[in-house]
Amino acid sequence: MKYIKKLIGFTYYKLKKIFKPSNLLYIIISKTKSKFLSTIRAKKIYGIETAKQLAIDDNLEIYEFHKSYFEKFLPSNKNLTLLDFGCGTGRYLELQKLYKKIYLVDISKYNLKIASEVADKLEINFETIKGSLNSIKSKIDIFFCVGVFGQQYPFNKNTVNKIYSVLQPTGKAIFTVKSIDYKNQEVYKEVLALDESSIQNILKGFNFSTEQVSFPSIRGEKESFVVVELNK
Ligand SMILES: C[S@@+](CC[C@H](N)C(=O)[O-])C[C@H]1O[C@@H](n2cnc3c(N)ncnc32)[C@H](O)[C@@H]1O
Repeated sequence: MKYIKKLIGFTYYKLKKIFKPSNLLYIIISKTKSKFLSTIRAKKIYGIETAKQLAIDDNLEIYEFHKSYFEKFLPSNKNLTLLDFGCGTGRYLELQKLYKKIYLVDISKYNLKIASEVADKLEINFETIKGSLNSIKSKIDIFFCVGVFGQQYPFNKNTVNKIYSVLQPTGKAIFTVKSIDYKNQEVYKEVLALDESSIQNILKGFNFSTEQVSFPSIRGEKESFVVVELNK
């Protein structure tokens, strides 16, 4: 009897863990790579408290590495428009402020509110778009995105086609895709992460280059990303 009770308790505990809404969502996304469910998950993550924390993290020393890394990809021509997809709380606005117009796109209204305040302080000409990739209607010169693909949004052919379609004829895109195979340094496995060769396969037929980069992480170790530069 004692063992049966233990078994029931153990099974109940396991099922409760599996069927916890966030875990269930994680399991379904890992099987389906669903864009819709990934977006729902991201929306749930970025509530008011997470947004406040993200804004605090934006000023951490470790992100100086990221900022100086991405700065070198940004053209110096001031007469361009830039769109930051999944802009969060505006970590990269200081780098982007030279451009004539910035589109800040994010699914989280809390993140967008903080990013807008930062943009106002920097006297940037900007517009916010609360939505996902399909909400982008304007043509832009630079598509910029850090920390979204392979993490909170699936990276596949449709994703690349959409990015490509919003670029002006001489436009370019700079974005990260979370990768899974960098020298065993991973500290956190992302459900949508891909290896570099799968990322290159998806990009086949486009004018692109990739670089696998190990970024310092807030989680204490290095995290690997593939940085993609895509030219029209
Ligand atoms: C890890 S944060 C990165 C924020 C910022 N790019 C940075 O590097 O500091 C991911 C951001 O992507 C946004 N996001 C996730 N899925 C999205 C989607 N489908 N459409 C728009 N934004 C999304 C989240 O709300 C969050 O602000």
